[in-house]
Amino acid sequence: MPAIVLVGAQWGDEGKGKATDLLGSRVDAVVKFNGGNNAGHTIVIGDEKYALHLLPSGILTPGCVPIIGNGVVIDLGVLFEEIDGLRARGVDTSSLVVSASAHLIPSYNRTLDKVTERFLGSRRIGTTGRGIGPAYADKMARVGIRVQDLFDEEGLRAKVAGALTLKNQVLVKIYNRRAVDVDEVVDELLAHADRLRPMVADTSLLLERMLDEGRTVVLEAGQATLLDVDHGTYPFVTSSNATAGGACTGSGIPPTRISAVIAIAKAYTTRVGEGPFPTELLDEQGERLRSVGAEYGTTTGRPRRCGWFDAVIARYAARVNGVTDFVLTKLDVLTGLDEIPVCVAYDVDGVRHDEIPMTQREFARATPIYETFPGWDEDISSATTLNDLPKNARQYVETLEEMIKAPISAVGVGPEREATVTVRDLLR
Ligand code: GDP
Ligand code: IMO
Ligand code: MG
Repeated sequence: MPAIVLVGAQWGDEGKGKATDLLGSRVDAVVKFNGGNNAGHTIVIGDEKYALHLLPSGILTPGCVPIIGNGVVIDLGVLFEEIDGLRARGVDTSSLVVSASAHLIPSYNRTLDKVTERFLGSRRIGTTGRGIGPAYADKMARVGIRVQDLFDEEGLRAKVAGALTLKNQVLVKIYNRRAVDVDEVVDELLAHADRLRPMVADTSLLLERMLDEGRTVVLEAGQATLLDVDHGTYPFVTSSNATAGGACTGSGIPPTRISAVIAIAKAYTTRVGEGPFPTELLDEQGERLRSVGAEYGTTTGRPRRCGWFDAVIARYAARVNGVTDFVLTKLDVLTGLDEIPVCVAYDVDGVRHDEIPMTQREFARATPIYETFPGWDEDISSATTLNDLPKNARQYVETLEEMIKAPISAVGVGPEREATVTVRDLLR
């Protein structure tokens, strides 16, 4: 089994962490290829609940090598906090490998993230405030600081000074903040260098060797398709490529080695932060999804915006990611509803759109065209096969599968590892 990509199909928080963890015991390595500690993955194993931000979900599986790929941006303080938190709970984190080419998030990027959002006012993105956007902007502007820079103090100092030349002008003259001191930043970064050193490797080379040996590698996305900087609801997106294409650039694994793309989609839709969301429910039905589904951000604790399943965006996710299997999560949250609407197309100024409109201006004006399906009352949380589901729940799954034009190979019926309906083997 070669490399398998796992992505979010909607606006994030679909349950990617649980899905990766489910595959965990049968995979040799899990690579996080994009994003940083803006991600929040909750994984429930028995009575234990873990919230991971920067570490790949595979870290909870003994024997699976967790890898932070070159496409990730790393806040070193958060990295070691997370490692220490897991170690204190008895999790072995010693096999973690970090790419020498991954970028770092110096503290000035967190400052810039926050002041920029404040400056944008009503045009703000609603970022997680973790410095993600500014760190990726630095990467593209070629003034980023990378993991390998920690091992060349003189070079590091020159790079930090170079980056701060412009940033300090911006901080002082535009945002009315104090200038950042080069030595302070260098000290803050170097404080972690010795501890990081043994974890650092050329991860692209390591992965090629693993694949040559016939090992199974899962490339795990943070965020999701509609938050992708190219294919999402720009500018209300994150600053990395969260779609399947990003798995190659973010890990150094070539496209020819990828054999499957698994997309995770919730049985309804949620979004955190600003931006268009056609099926959003601003009434008590949205409130019901939020409370029954516990839809509060793992990273920022913000209430997630909730709405019905949108088959147009799921179909779009199938297309731009080349999805071979969907995992449909949180079906249990819909239990108890009389009927369940599903968005099958949009109306934009009186014109029907079966696909996402070409421009964001149109998308922002899209109103959903719904088809409604009968609900179910039976508890489905112990179902393990499609036959265990009540007729209407099964019909809901099968209808979505037809609409999104890709097979649904597993269905989540609860947060725990075991609470999963298996339709076909994801690692076949
Ligand atoms: P991620 O960012 O995609 O990994 O998702 P999050 O962890 O941020 O959010 C998903 C939440 O749903 C977590 O609290 C999971 O424990 C939970 N979850 C995952 N799958 C299911 C499911 O099938 N049913 C229920 N009820 N909860 C689920
Ligand atoms: P996981 O991996 C949901 C959203 C933020 C904001 C936008 C940009 O848990 O699915 P950023 O801090 O990345 O510059 O913020 O993206 N966002 C997420 N929403 N789940 C996530 O990750 C997210 N990561 C970023 O809320 O709207
Ligand atoms: Mg999340």
